[in-house]
Amino acid sequence: MTTWLVTGGAGYIGAHVVQALMASGRGVVIYDDFSSGLHRRVPDDVEVVAGDVHDAAALAHVFRSHAIDGVVHLAAKKAAGESVDVPLYYYRENVDGLLHVLEAMEGTGITRLVYSSSAAVYGTPVANPVTEDAPLNPESPYGETKVVGEWMARDCGTAWGLSWSALRYFNVGGAGSDALGDSSVNNLIPMVFRALDQGRRPQIFGADYPTPDGTCIRDYIHVVDLAEAHVAAAARCESGVRTDVFNVGTGHGYSVREVMDMVSEVIGRDVDAEVVARRAGDPPATWASTERIERDLGWSASRDLRQMVASAWSAWQANA
Ligand SMILES: NC(=O)c1ccc[n+]([C@@H]2O[C@H](COP(=O)([O-])OP(=O)(O)OC[C@H]3O[C@@H](n4cnc5c(N)ncnc54)[C@H](O)[C@@H]3O)[C@@H](O)[C@H]2O)c1
Repeated sequence: MTTWLVTGGAGYIGAHVVQALMASGRGVVIYDDFSSGLHRRVPDDVEVVAGDVHDAAALAHVFRSHAIDGVVHLAAKKAAGESVDVPLYYYRENVDGLLHVLEAMEGTGITRLVYSSSAAVYGTPVANPVTEDAPLNPESPYGETKVVGEWMARDCGTAWGLSWSALRYFNVGGAGSDALGDSSVNNLIPMVFRALDQGRRPQIFGADYPTPDGTCIRDYIHVVDLAEAHVAAAARCESGVRTDVFNVGTGHGYSVREVMDMVSEVIGRDVDAEVVARRAGDPPATWASTERIERDLGWSASRDLRQMVASAWSAWQANA
């Protein structure tokens, strides 16, 4: 049995990754500074080390004292819009943070990394479905930090044999249980819930895009499916395969209006969304090619949009 350190394991996605790794029989240690992580997401029987990923000495100590075999690195800041205003903060947190994790790994001889990347590396895609070989055109400092992170992992693969997988998440939603729900409101589904809570009409940013119903199309991936992709990626690293990047999506796009309709169905009343002006920088449509991850990791998504919205709504209400 291998033991994995999960940075950001008290976060929304990280907590699901922790559960999936445990279910696979692997040992898990969480490393998190709780800047956005929540104690309620941490299982009682998992060891948690409170710390900052910039502290390479502390990381190296944990690697040795817990006989860590590999790292799933999720700890990062994730708001693309915010990153435009404070780019250096994003480079510090996301690039410099990873740098220290990699230094600690190199210094202690740990050669397995599963890295949280993002579909933000593509920016506005040239064609759909987006393959991993599509040009990288990030449109925010956040997306840029994820590209640099992939390059850092690749270069360490070349230099000292790091076996790594970078997972490019598409739009993540849902919850594995109420305690693990997404508490941030960066994504569409929680944004709709928050508007409803506040007695406002949820907003659709533009209904004049060149899509069938005029609203933007995205690939929504259930967080439990996403977590299972990390287990498949960890297994690939354990087998010693050197490197790759993988899209993690369903291969299917839903429009904003279709998501709103699903929310209406799940909560049992019309959300009565209002159309407002487009936001800058929203690509009309993007969904993933899942061919590579199906072929190389043997992973595909099995949960649908209804399960995603229903589990997210249940968690939202439980944590209101
Ligand atoms: N949520 C999404 O839709 C999405 C999409 C694509 C990629 N991602 C990536 O997935 C990862 C996890 O995202 P999330 O949605 O779970 O976010 P989150 O904010 O819920 O989780 C991030 C976790 O990292 C911890 N953390 C942050 N900075 C740290 C530091 N310096 N040292 C130690 N711990 C630190 C936080 O406390 C938190 O527990 C991020 O790398 C993010 O960029 C998320």
